[in-house]
Amino acid sequence: MGVKIIATGAYVPSYRVSNTDLECLLDTTDEWIQQRTGIISRHISQGENTSDLGYYAAKMAIEQANIDVAKIDFIIVATMSADYNTPSTACLIQEKLDANNAFACDINAACSGFVYALHIARSLMDYSTNGYGLVIGSEVMSKLLNWNDRSTAILFGDGAGCVLLEKSVKSNLLSHVLHSDGEKGLSLCAVENPVCNPFVDNEKEVLPFLRMNGRDIFNFSTRQIPTLILETVEKAECTLDDIDYFLIHQANLRIIELVAKKLDVPLDKFPTNVEHYGNTSSASIPILLDELIQQRKIVLNGECTILMAGFGGGLTWGALLIRI
Ligand code: ACO
Repeated sequence: MGVKIIATGAYVPSYRVSNTDLECLLDTTDEWIQQRTGIISRHISQGENTSDLGYYAAKMAIEQANIDVAKIDFIIVATMSADYNTPSTACLIQEKLDANNAFACDINAACSGFVYALHIARSLMDYSTNGYGLVIGSEVMSKLLNWNDRSTAILFGDGAGCVLLEKSVKSNLLSHVLHSDGEKGLSLCAVENPVCNPFVDNEKEVLPFLRMNGRDIFNFSTRQIPTLILETVEKAECTLDDIDYFLIHQANLRIIELVAKKLDVPLDKFPTNVEHYGNTSSASIPILLDELIQQRKIVLNGECTILMAGFGGGLTWGALLIRI
């Protein structure tokens, strides 16, 4: 049994914050941000939370496919910025959608979350009754940021993307490779939850915001992603030439350019939108996929081969090769 993507959706908050706007808040410049990251602007939530963004993206996908929400068997949300520790963002979205027959849960693999979730969804589909499932990447990264820290505040944006999956006889996921390295986890961490109760003697200093060693993550991703892509392609017994588009996590334009160069693949096979959304973590790949479908660069007719690759906190990295 396999899965196929039958519709996509995406949503970003309407409030757009340009690099020039950030010059008023932080000791930074539009030139520095564009040169180091490629980012020009990002969308920032003025109150909508992660479940709201995910709900709008999911609603769009369901409307496009025109299916009955009662047929959705599961909702998986990839997020590192959930509304609550519990209930899960997925349960909140289930309630908003009125998808009463679905089971729902979140997974957290930071910026690799969507790729991880899609792989998990494929396995779940074998046990699905009605044959439909939602995989959503949704993030309000702006609530995790220290808005006085210019080295991180300029990088991220808020948004959500979604795919609606249908069970299919043919497997459209040609291969997958997922990796984690917990040893390097503290290179990128956000919002520590230390033990705090009346029996704890010494209260620990907590880390309330996202903190990242940007240089470490840059080196890790430019080293690991080309290897990961080659591993995934080889596993499917394909070649790089067989791939129409490489949808790489949109963290930084320089990382994407370096990956393309290392693989000797033309840059136009690496579509980007980091320029307009910044790094939206687990939402970046499904937002990009939805844009390519809206622009009709990708048509869901089973003839396009795409490779999705995510990397980020954990550390985690993973790729899927899909025919869509
Ligand atoms: N504006 C102006 N100057 C700045 C800014 C800013 N916004 N931020 C940092 N600087 C300064 C630094 O203070 C430093 O100054 P100094 O030389 O006087 O000390 C200088 O610029 C260089 O700083 P670096 O951190 O060395 O800059 P670098 O070239 O490494 O670029 C960046 C930083 C853009 C963060 C880069 O390292 C990067 O993209 N890393 C990868 C991040 C990433 O991909 N994360 C993905 C995972 S995210 C997830 O999983 C949630």
